[in-house]
Amino acid sequence: MESFFLEYGNLLLRWLHVIAAIAWIGESIHFVMLDLSLRPPKSAHDKQLGIDGELWAVHGGGFYHHQKYLTTPPKLPDDLHWAFWKAYTTWLSGFGLFILLYLLRADIYLVNPASPWEWARQMDGQQAGLLAVLFLIVGYNVYSRLCRLISPTVNHDGWLSLAVGIMMIIVAWLSVQIFPGRAAFLITGALMATCMSANVFFWIIPGQRRMVKALKTGGTPNPLDGAWGKQRSVHNTYFTLPVIFLMLSNHYAFTYTNAYAWVIMVLFIFSGALIRQYFVLRHTGKNDLRFPLAGIILLAVIGWLAAPSADSGAQAMINPAAEQVTVARVHGIVQARCTECHSAKPTQPGFAAAPAGILLDTEQQIVQHASQVKEAVASQYMPLANLTQMTPEERALIARWDGRPD
Ligand code: HEC
Repeated sequence: MESFFLEYGNLLLRWLHVIAAIAWIGESIHFVMLDLSLRPPKSAHDKQLGIDGELWAVHGGGFYHHQKYLTTPPKLPDDLHWAFWKAYTTWLSGFGLFILLYLLRADIYLVNPASPWEWARQMDGQQAGLLAVLFLIVGYNVYSRLCRLISPTVNHDGWLSLAVGIMMIIVAWLSVQIFPGRAAFLITGALMATCMSANVFFWIIPGQRRMVKALKTGGTPNPLDGAWGKQRSVHNTYFTLPVIFLMLSNHYAFTYTNAYAWVIMVLFIFSGALIRQYFVLRHTGKNDLRFPLAGIILLAVIGWLAAPSADSGAQAMINPAAEQVTVARVHGIVQARCTECHSAKPTQPGFAAAPAGILLDTEQQIVQHASQVKEAVASQYMPLANLTQMTPEERALIARWDGRPD
């Protein structure tokens, strides 16, 4: 019963998380579009009022006239629309999900028995959970320090982008060394998403509050408050598409169980940023196809890296004299190592239903999922954290199985 309520809580939190994220990202994409689509105002009166740009739009059966003031509007209304709760709700619900899905079972989801580092393999669940949370906190602080050191007055944003790009390569590599692939992709995405939310919380909103306060008390807002907010908001724009991929990556085991997992992660991050750049430029009226083309080339490289190599099929041929592996034999191993979780009635605590919907109770079901089973076992992704202590001999045997019924 308890595992059912965890599962139900998971569903509700995920629903909230996706809704909040759509609302936040949608608004953010809309404002980027708006800002970049502004054209100088047509009427002289508007110019006199200090209006810098305007956009006419038609949407939902109505006509909209957006206007942006270069600096100070003559009078600030009391009912300003602020945008921050969507960002905070997204982060909070995401972190709630992370607790439920990873931290509560950190021993199996966050400890990487295949880590090249001894200390990482030796961590217990609590240590791995703590390290994952530290990863987010330290990661954001390094990123924020880079912004302040390299481009303190928004004067070297090109160099800053380069530094943040290099930082993300290091983060991707590091996360895959420490955590299991699936968690590594999620944690890297969570770090980028934490930077985005923290940018809103620590920079964009406080800066806007100071600007509004200055205006209301008859002072002049500090232009740096606007510039810093803009700088962080630009980073958020380029983080958006990579974060969405990293959040979805959990469904695609071939990305994170791959020997090139961290390279694949890096390529996805840069591909997302490049594709976003195309849309950013497009709003300003440019149609530079080099950016999406570069992004697509990176996606193609990912496909090339992740495709199963021809010799995984040839493995069965290594020793043609070896006796044929029967489904019955595979079934025996699966019963010992997999059905604790992958069963209509899992016995592993915390599992209310077969994970990923993969049932391996019968020979027929095993054959039905043959290629996934072989892939998951060969990549050492399954059994999770090798909780059921599958031996290398058993893995070799499943690799030799041709995946067909007897
Ligand atoms: C401790 C529980 C546990 C054990 C034991 C376990 N699995 Fe899994 N398995 C999971 C969970 C949780 C997922 C879902 C993870 C995900 O979504 O990537 C999963 C997902 C899978 C998938 C789907 C991966 C994909 O492509 O998305 C396959 C295939 C799989 N397991 C096969 C196996 C096999 C074969 C064994 C035994 C050798 C095994 N599992 C043992 C928990 C377990």
